[in-house]
Amino acid sequence: MKLGIFDSGLGGLLIAKSIRKKMPDIDIVYFGDTLNLPYGNRSSQTIYTYSQRAIEFLFSQNCNLIITACNTASTTALRQLQQCYLPKSSYADRRILGVIVPTLETAIAHGYKRLGVIATHHTIETKIYPIELKKIDPTISIVQKSTPLLVPLIENGGAQWLPSVLEYYLTSMIKNDAIECLILGCTHYSILKKEIKDITKHSVSLISQDEIIPDKLINYLNKHPGLNEKIDKNGKSDFYVSDVTENYCESAEQIYGDNIDIKLAKFDTALNKLTL
Ligand code: DGL
Repeated sequence: MKLGIFDSGLGGLLIAKSIRKKMPDIDIVYFGDTLNLPYGNRSSQTIYTYSQRAIEFLFSQNCNLIITACNTASTTALRQLQQCYLPKSSYADRRILGVIVPTLETAIAHGYKRLGVIATHHTIETKIYPIELKKIDPTISIVQKSTPLLVPLIENGGAQWLPSVLEYYLTSMIKNDAIECLILGCTHYSILKKEIKDITKHSVSLISQDEIIPDKLINYLNKHPGLNEKIDKNGKSDFYVSDVTENYCESAEQIYGDNIDIKLAKFDTALNKLTL
């Protein structure tokens, strides 16, 4: 069996890359739903439908453990998948993990008391970060900011506009020392670390999920040795997307490296599922 990684697009390749670096032997299957990207402006029902489809595809590729790298999917679909879909499916022994709580735990472990989070419109609207934070430590404050233009600019070659858009989004968040730590609450934003540091002039620390998820995964596997034993360790990686274009192939190479070979997992409307 293998480790599955799911994202709405290619941003999650950064997490796949950092997991591969820390765990060179583990077999990984990545799925990016490029056909339906961006998830961030869609309804909860649609995000759930896409997420369940992606999870079913990764299960069909023999993944017994899946990381939902996408914050928007973690926000909206994860709990329902864990609590309703998994127990009812024939995959009840499999596990799906998200990224929101591990990210907050990391910020708290660093001792930060004034957090900020930037994320897609949907993630911010659901208030998942403040809600989960309150459960863990209600004494810590969090300022949220929806940054919906970032993913379209990243995905559509709009790099030249990113600094001004980031400045517009971040200025109010960082003024008067309002926050001491900024959570990048979207897979794509890890790509923007340098630009964000330039704008914040290093006045806030960044929490980027590509830097924390590999260690969280290692901890999880250490705590679940039965699951760990079942995962194949041949160092194999497979990358699937639901729509392939030249642009996506180039972006995948830029994010992951030249050695990436992305393949199509096609949505079959008659079967209502992703197939090879
Ligand atoms: N991957 C999504 C996330 O982490 C952002 C991109 C999208 O809107 O689909 O929230």
